Amino acid sequence: MAVRFIGNKQKLLSLITNKIIEKTGLHTGTFVDLFTGTTSVAMAFKKLGFNVISNDKLESSFNFSKAGLLINKEPQFHKLLNEVEIPFNSLFEQPYDLVLDYLNSLPEKQEFFYKEYSPQGSAEHLEEPRKYFTDYNAKKIDAIRTEINYWFENAFINDNERALLLSSLMFAVNKVANISGTYGAYLKNWYPRALDPLKLCRYPLFYSNKRYEVYNEDANNLVKKLAHSEIVYIDPPYTKRQYNAYYHILETLAYGDNPELLGKTGQRAREAEEVSAYCYKKKAPDALLDLITNIKADHVFLSYSTDGHISHQQIMDILSTRGTPEYWAVDFKRFKSNNPKEKNGSDLKELLYYVKVI
Ligand SMILES: C[S@@+](CC[C@H](N)C(=O)[O-])C[C@H]1O[C@@H](n2cnc3c(N)ncnc32)[C@H](O)[C@@H]1O
Repeated sequence: MAVRFIGNKQKLLSLITNKIIEKTGLHTGTFVDLFTGTTSVAMAFKKLGFNVISNDKLESSFNFSKAGLLINKEPQFHKLLNEVEIPFNSLFEQPYDLVLDYLNSLPEKQEFFYKEYSPQGSAEHLEEPRKYFTDYNAKKIDAIRTEINYWFENAFINDNERALLLSSLMFAVNKVANISGTYGAYLKNWYPRALDPLKLCRYPLFYSNKRYEVYNEDANNLVKKLAHSEIVYIDPPYTKRQYNAYYHILETLAYGDNPELLGKTGQRAREAEEVSAYCYKKKAPDALLDLITNIKADHVFLSYSTDGHISHQQIMDILSTRGTPEYWAVDFKRFKSNNPKEKNGSDLKELLYYVKVI
């Protein structure tokens, strides 16, 4: 199951990668994914043999990037296995599987997730209890995240091992969350998969030996610092939906904190600098122009929807500042939500734009 994430390019991968290879004729060099989200495109270019630089403002996305790009051999968890008695299990050959099995069998705990996001736990302090997870799953998440946090604080695991375990946890949480596609709100009735017990599985890894860098910054700032690269891919948000609000529960897992929560849906309090200019109709065109102006690359590709804040003509004008733009309509199934208020339109098109920088 692909991660439920607005704009996840998983289903469009072959189309995007084929077009990029066809237009650039490149099979090596550096590929930069400035708004990497689930890292689907960055990972595709890792598999194709490119050096890859990925970036996203989300902490959860930063975690996926560290796991997917920076881990390039089977993780051994040496220190952890020396420090913590994790029973050998003949079913599992690899330390990673052994560690996941250990985390899966931890006894439940009643901590932050139980108190804030499960019906029974949140009923103790909220008039309208939150229903993001079953009581059982919330307690399992508490047990697992507390253990990962403890291991990291005591240096039993390093930063990449932590990112890998958290990525497994975020994948598992994503499967059983009682939501319609984003964490903007929970569903009134249980989504059938939300009733399944949470289980950690291996996060999909791919080992290679090229150069990889991961960043967690505003893309417009980052491009000013990056050296020249062959290909830059841009996939910014195109609506008013702020990703850190829609994925606040994944953010809390990635930060490993217990933040103060706001309102009925229990979102994290947000700092003004955390909002994205691309989510405002007025600011988005200027943000894109600034980004395109500062990119140092031979080839620039942009994914954008005809439903987005920036019009097709504005995009063509902006890209024309660096060369002669081209574009293709990408047949696609729009982000599907089972929330009746979200329109599941098929009339919208996703476009892939390209400019060879002159
Ligand atoms: C359309 S999604 C990218 C989806 C991604 N290509 C994938 O396949 O999963 C847009 C991403 O841009 C990130 N974002 C929004 N504003 C940003 C900014 N100013 N700088 C960096 N990342 C930003 C969001 O957190 C979100 O992950």
